[in-house]
Amino acid sequence: MAGLLVWLQAPQTDRVGFPKDYRETFKRVRVSDRADTKTTAVIYANTLGASVKPGERGPYPYGSILINETWTTVKDATGSVVLDEGGHYKLDQLQKIHVMRKEKGFGEAYGDKRSGEWEYVSFAPDGQGYVTPPSESAPCAQCHHLFATENRDWVFGKYERH
Ligand code: HEC
Repeated sequence: MAGLLVWLQAPQTDRVGFPKDYRETFKRVRVSDRADTKTTAVIYANTLGASVKPGERGPYPYGSILINETWTTVKDATGSVVLDEGGHYKLDQLQKIHVMRKEKGFGEAYGDKRSGEWEYVSFAPDGQGYVTPPSESAPCAQCHHLFATENRDWVFGKYERH
């Protein structure tokens, strides 16, 4: 593990932070049911992050904060996912609160795994403590770098208001 952390450069301090009241103050911009893993991602954005409209690809303004809540889902006796009244997967347990934040100059510490000016951390469901601290967040930057790409300002989602 020590060897891995040497080549995976990452920030050593948290410049992202836990946005404490995000469920009240952020917009819930997207619900993504993932058939492959039978999980659901619920995406929130602060006002700046939500200013990028559906169909637009960014760039996101500085100060944008995006949150990806990862959820397990309720299954029936046959293992199929139960749907809620909105037709989405019925949420069971909140697993992680992934947060990405864009500020001028952010991301430099990731070196060539950098995804623009975003930095990443992941918090436990109660917001207390890290699931992925800054020093271990290189895979976040790298996956967004490789698969979301600069073309979309390293953000996967197409945002529709819910
Ligand atoms: C293996 C690839 C991969 C890794 C590693 C990864 N992500 Fe993502 N991330 C995704 C994908 C794919 C989505 C879109 C999910 C969806 O809509 O279902 C996403 C979505 C997000 C979003 C919502 C904005 C967007 O891009 O749509 C945030 C915030 C986020 N991830 C943060 C993180 C953080 C923090 C980490 C590390 C703890 C991380 N991600 C690690 C692939 C990855």
